[in-house]
Amino acid sequence: MKPIRVGLLGLGTVGGGTVNVLARNREEIARRAGRAIEVVQASARDLGKARICDTTGIELTTDPFAVVDNPAVEVVVELIGGTDLARELVERAVAAGKHVVTANKALIAHHGNTIFEAAHRAGVTVAFEAAVAGGIPIIKAIREGLAGNRIEWLAGIINGTSNFILTEMRSAGRAFDDVLAEAQRLGYAEADPTFDVEGIDAAHKLTILAAIAFGVPLAFDRAYTEGISRIAPEDVGYAEQLGYRIKHLGIARRRDEGIELRVHPALVPASAILANVDGVMNAVMVRGDAIGPTLFYGAGAGAEPTASAVVADLVDVVRALTTDPENRVPHLAFQPDAISDAPILPVAQARTAYYLRMTALDRPGVLADIATVLGRAGISIEAVVQKEPPQGAEFAQLVMLTHRVLERQMDEAIAAVEALSSIRGSVTRIRVEHLEGA
Ligand code: NDP
Ligand code: HSE
Repeated sequence: MKPIRVGLLGLGTVGGGTVNVLARNREEIARRAGRAIEVVQASARDLGKARICDTTGIELTTDPFAVVDNPAVEVVVELIGGTDLARELVERAVAAGKHVVTANKALIAHHGNTIFEAAHRAGVTVAFEAAVAGGIPIIKAIREGLAGNRIEWLAGIINGTSNFILTEMRSAGRAFDDVLAEAQRLGYAEADPTFDVEGIDAAHKLTILAAIAFGVPLAFDRAYTEGISRIAPEDVGYAEQLGYRIKHLGIARRRDEGIELRVHPALVPASAILANVDGVMNAVMVRGDAIGPTLFYGAGAGAEPTASAVVADLVDVVRALTTDPENRVPHLAFQPDAISDAPILPVAQARTAYYLRMTALDRPGVLADIATVLGRAGISIEAVVQKEPPQGAEFAQLVMLTHRVLERQMDEAIAAVEALSSIRGSVTRIRVEHLEGA
């Protein structure tokens, strides 16, 4: 059989990795797909740039539309990133009846509902395994492997850059900016790294995971998003002393009232599996009613780990070429006419434990005042650590762990604590997740 002809949009970290994996494993991939997969044309902005891959035999262009419009290109792989140009290119490919593979989580989280509808009408697939957790086949696992389950919750480390930064801050005491610069050099970070450190990239991915886990529309705008940029080295240290580690988590949980969808740093017990996922590695725990807890672990970013997922999607697309479009695995796991309208809950309705750090006057009665304010809000304290102030200093650092409470109650209690005359500045708050049932 003739090779399937692929057009590649982007020859950067993931594009280059994809060319390399397709070339190195050409025969193995053909044995799986039933046909060889050949990149016939690729686009990049600067054709003079050094590449991590050998582009011999690939027609190169600076015009990505030329690739999409090329009649010889049967499948388009979008690895440019961003939401504007990428959307135009993907929609054009779909309109031309071409299957698409993309690693672009921003595109799927923002425009997936429209893109999948168009793809369904056109009878083509838009595959996006690489969009979540790099090389981990988490989309396929939830969409297909766990299809018999009612998914109860999922929680994961789904941004490699943030995990790399937190790991290096804790284990080597390195500075945030220094580690971020290294993540950029290694090709882990997004083109705009604020997407990584402000939690936006993780929220894109969580939005996608929640849609395929619970059968709800992609609702990025409803996700609560908080990144690691305000995590101070002292919080990393105090967490360690209390037997926890700070991790950046994406959590989606089904509740009777709706769905929790939140991305934020959290203290996780040091003995928990997720606390021990380090560096650029990602891990996603998924709890289904039939299977119980499951764990998926692997590299969350980087050229070849991500290419692994891109190529797996290509193989799937090739295998599905001769199947009836109506009988393919639905893009978002559930049949398009069976999507639920369960609401996404505001974060004020989340219930978690908390780590609180505040700067308090070092004098008798202050701790009792704080405990009274928290007690009035129905918040009980699990542990208190008071750091001895330096000789002669008036203020000391006070660190507390609370039991679980509704976020709204905690917001009110923090405002009341900050209003006490014995408290200086604002209270640092980090949620604590015990990942019950894991
Ligand atoms: P890179 O920046 O390394 O590569 C982007 C490629 O697209 C480059 O070849 C660039 O050309 C080209 N490009 C960028 N803008 C334009 C434009 N306006 N017109 C034409 N071509 C353009 O990005 P990555 O490979 O890291 O990421 C690609 C996608 O994969 C993104 O959606 C990202 O979120 C996603 N992703 C990335 C992962 C990673 O580990 N890096 C992991 C999982 C997903 P040139 O090279 O000439 O500049
Ligand atoms: N910037 C992303 C990360 C790439 O660090 O996880 C993988 O999606």
